[in-house]
Amino acid sequence: MKYMTGNEIRKAYLQFFKSKEHLILHSFPLIPENDPSLLLIGAGMAPLKPYFTGKLVPPSYRVTTSQKCIRTDDIDNVGRTARHHTFFEMLGNFSFGNYFKKEAISWAWEFLTQVLELDTDKLYVTIYPDDKEAYDYWHNMIGLADERIFKFDDNFWEIGEGPCGPDSEIFYDLGPERGCGKPTCTVGCDCDRYLEIWNLVFTQYNRTKDGKYEPLAKKNIDTGCGLERLASVIQQKESNFETDLIFPIIEKVIAISGGDYNDPRQKMAMKVIADHIRAITFMISDGILPSNEGRGYVLRRILRRAVRFGRLLGIKDLFLAGLVDTVLDILGDEYPETREHEALIKQIINTEEKQFSATLAQGMELLNDMMAHVGDDKVLTGAEVFKLYDTYGFPMELTEEIAGEQGFKVDKDGFQEA
Ligand code: ALA
Repeated sequence: MKYMTGNEIRKAYLQFFKSKEHLILHSFPLIPENDPSLLLIGAGMAPLKPYFTGKLVPPSYRVTTSQKCIRTDDIDNVGRTARHHTFFEMLGNFSFGNYFKKEAISWAWEFLTQVLELDTDKLYVTIYPDDKEAYDYWHNMIGLADERIFKFDDNFWEIGEGPCGPDSEIFYDLGPERGCGKPTCTVGCDCDRYLEIWNLVFTQYNRTKDGKYEPLAKKNIDTGCGLERLASVIQQKESNFETDLIFPIIEKVIAISGGDYNDPRQKMAMKVIADHIRAITFMISDGILPSNEGRGYVLRRILRRAVRFGRLLGIKDLFLAGLVDTVLDILGDEYPETREHEALIKQIINTEEKQFSATLAQGMELLNDMMAHVGDDKVLTGAEVFKLYDTYGFPMELTEEIAGEQGFKVDKDGFQEA
């Protein structure tokens, strides 16, 4: 395995698929176009749905992208694990009724083992149990031994309405020292040892609004390979956060805060901030502004969470906009739209950070007081949580997270009612 920077890996991926006659398309914006089923683009295939269903004719029947993605379902895990992010880049190759399983499997293997030179002994795959065709390609064409091919019922991929299908995932074994040590530890274990690096989806169905799965007229390929994860393997880093795609942001946070990356609490705060500033930069550059609903609320929530973690690190002044330059140094060439909106991005961040900083300390005092006087059930009432939201600008989820850190819960239904 040879060392490559994150930017080199992205380029190698796109060029590899170009050599297999794929058209390289620039990442689509984070705001979905004509797709009310999604708030934000969270996968490489999401903006391509009309090409899979045949509703639109694609510019080429083979396409490859590095897609900007936002996923917030696991936001509470960001900073706590090696690989959860709100913003990440998903590398993908797509076939719209053109090639299918054979090519997708053989090219994924060729890229991993010949271009990136990953050790074949460390690679494992999973397939959907009935998928004999995928099994045969992995076993007979690639030559993977039966014990390296795992069959799982949840090997089926979908996002909202639209194209979906059984999938086959490729895992990299990071070694026993990264594992949980349990005798049962193997591919599929929750621990960090076996890292999923690529998902090949054999898109055969269209999920309708009412949850039906209709066979698609043509079979397609949708793949997704997380760039930051791949970089962590190639650069042999403990987590995605130590790769050259993210670590320079953490170094800047260390410089601003004087903090210690070896202290677990500070380390988590630094990871949260580094992750969130990437999301914030890309969301604003794609035209999302902080607000109290929809995408704007997602942005506000991420931004305010980052501010709070900055204060936990002892940073007193406005600091978030100062990290944007580092994000642009790393990703600005690949995504020029971020550089185009640099001034706006910084201005919006500063305004939002200023507003929230003005009430954060007071809100924290009130929250501490609420926690000190809560009933035996340790549940903060909807009215209390609403006051923090309405008067102090605390997104409900932030209150929930802070309270949760100390063993308290919030009454979410009561909050909605309030
Ligand atoms: N669409 C698939 C995923 O996001 C490849 O995992």
